[in-house]
Amino acid sequence: MQAPALPAPERGIDQRPVGVFDSGMGGLTVLHECLVTMPHEDFVYLGDAARLPYGPRPLPEIRRFAREIARFLAAEEVKLILVACNAATSAALPDLQEELAVPVVGVITPEAHAAVQATRNRRIGLLATQATVAAGRYERLVRTLDAGARLVAVACPRLVPLIESADPFGEETAVAVREYAAPLMEAGVDTVVLGCTHYPLIRPIFQRVFGRGVTLVFSAEETAREVAATLSRKGIENAEAREGRYRFLTTGDPEQFRVMGARFLQLPIAEVERVAIARLEEAAA
Ligand code: DGL
Repeated sequence: MQAPALPAPERGIDQRPVGVFDSGMGGLTVLHECLVTMPHEDFVYLGDAARLPYGPRPLPEIRRFAREIARFLAAEEVKLILVACNAATSAALPDLQEELAVPVVGVITPEAHAAVQATRNRRIGLLATQATVAAGRYERLVRTLDAGARLVAVACPRLVPLIESADPFGEETAVAVREYAAPLMEAGVDTVVLGCTHYPLIRPIFQRVFGRGVTLVFSAEETAREVAATLSRKGIENAEAREGRYRFLTTGDPEQFRVMGARFLQLPIAEVERVAIARLEEAAA
């Protein structure tokens, strides 16, 4: 005789927001996807503009920043933390997952997976910050998924400051992209991971430089899907019928964040609140 089916688990409504952070505007590419994938959820986004860029910093320092922000968000009663920054994911994801009670989702695994799926010649390029390249997390993940695939990584220190500047789409950015793309084109890669959440903001420049034969991979959509799946699996989703709210915090200049942020988020940004670094440090103390 067949065993009776177990009753479906009780599914409550969890009204807590999802916490998202990055060093600056880059995480807005991921937040954008989250807002359209989960319009019924609330989000709180923190951009650590006062300490941007993270990329040139040593991994232990980025880990310390990530711990401060994640603990600050946890104290704000978020139900999940999304590390919308490849450098912070590289430096801190396992530590955050160990230390925090709420689920923590990062941005690197979905991209490594998508790149291995997309490549036909098994030559994958990676463009990222120095910290992400130095951490070697992409290499390890790609090798785990396909030991025969080759990853060629190039650190791009000029891109994040250019993307956060007053002229992100200018000639200087195009020149830098051409320079960073050259070794990957020479290596004959057919797939390139944009391994920094800032880079999709200038995606058209990348696509023109690499041409149509190269697949660009970035994680915003996959990551948003992973957040949605995690909320669903754990039974901590908000009510489907509502329209969620989202709010912004920055350690930098709120007005600058509001103006630039709306351009990148492609959704209105009403108000941005400033958070002092000292408050973040206190949260981790
Ligand atoms: N957007 C971040 C990343 O994905 C960090 C960029 C930076 O601050 O250098 O790596």
